[in-house]
Amino acid sequence: MQVTAEDIKVISRLVNDLCGVVLDEGKGYLIEARLSGVAQEAGCKTFSELYTKARYDKDKTLQNAIINAITTQETLFFRDTSPFEALQHKALPELIDAKSGTAFPKRLRIWSAAASTGQEAYSIAMTLHELIPDIHSWDIKITGTDISDAAIKQASLGRYAEHEIKRGMQPQLLAKYFTHEPGAWKVKDELRALVAYRRLNLLEPFAGIGPFDIIFCRNVAIYFSVEARKSLFHRLAKELVAGGYLFVGSSESLTDLGPRFAPQHHCRAVFYQPSKQGIAAAV
Ligand SMILES: C[S@@+](CC[C@H](N)C(=O)[O-])C[C@H]1O[C@@H](n2cnc3c(N)ncnc32)[C@H](O)[C@@H]1O
Repeated sequence: MQVTAEDIKVISRLVNDLCGVVLDEGKGYLIEARLSGVAQEAGCKTFSELYTKARYDKDKTLQNAIINAITTQETLFFRDTSPFEALQHKALPELIDAKSGTAFPKRLRIWSAAASTGQEAYSIAMTLHELIPDIHSWDIKITGTDISDAAIKQASLGRYAEHEIKRGMQPQLLAKYFTHEPGAWKVKDELRALVAYRRLNLLEPFAGIGPFDIIFCRNVAIYFSVEARKSLFHRLAKELVAGGYLFVGSSESLTDLGPRFAPQHHCRAVFYQPSKQGIAAAV
């Protein structure tokens, strides 16, 4: 199916309204490659038909199909390694120390925002399991969210094909936290019990989701407009407890968002501990 200049304009606007992803004029090939199948399945002969049908899609099935197809779900276990080292050797020990003597010394709340198919949240869960010997006596909740219902479905199942496991998983962790099934590996229940997944659009208000001790929001804002990215990180900072940690992707930097987002370094990892001051005014 061929895309016209007008199709690119209207579909880009639709995609941006649905999920914040910016498709510039040069992304016609992406629309053709990723949305031709969606259009055909919806019985549309042109992209302009697809646009009209999706704009007025009451039950959102077509809109969700477009989101699933157009968003990039690329992820892997322990992506970039260093954030998980900083989590294990810096953020978690500091948080655990800071919590001792408080009313809830064994409570941790962590958010993997834009969790894709779940590898990030399960990597966090394995890091916690490895670090905290008496984890069963802790109150730990890792919330994994993503806009793609297909990604959330796989994440909740915790079932990964061999090629997904090969990307980033260490053999000793695989043996400890996964069981082998025909053609796949399944996350063991003890790990799955730490993580709950749900659909959430990061463009929409985060009603009642936080507060969190740690937020991972990696490799999603790179697809957003300058304003949407800025608003997202200021709103995420509001969902963190005082002294909470924010991890972003290795190619992302928040230094342009002002002194509140002063980068902190540990080994090769960069993270942020945004102060609460003035956040409301910045959003
Ligand atoms: C490249 S993956 C990143 C996954 C993981 N955070 C990582 O770094 O490996 C980007 C994810 O962002 C999700 N996404 C895109 N727009 C979103 C939005 N508006 N709200 C929530 N998730 C979104 C996509 O569905 C996709 O799963």
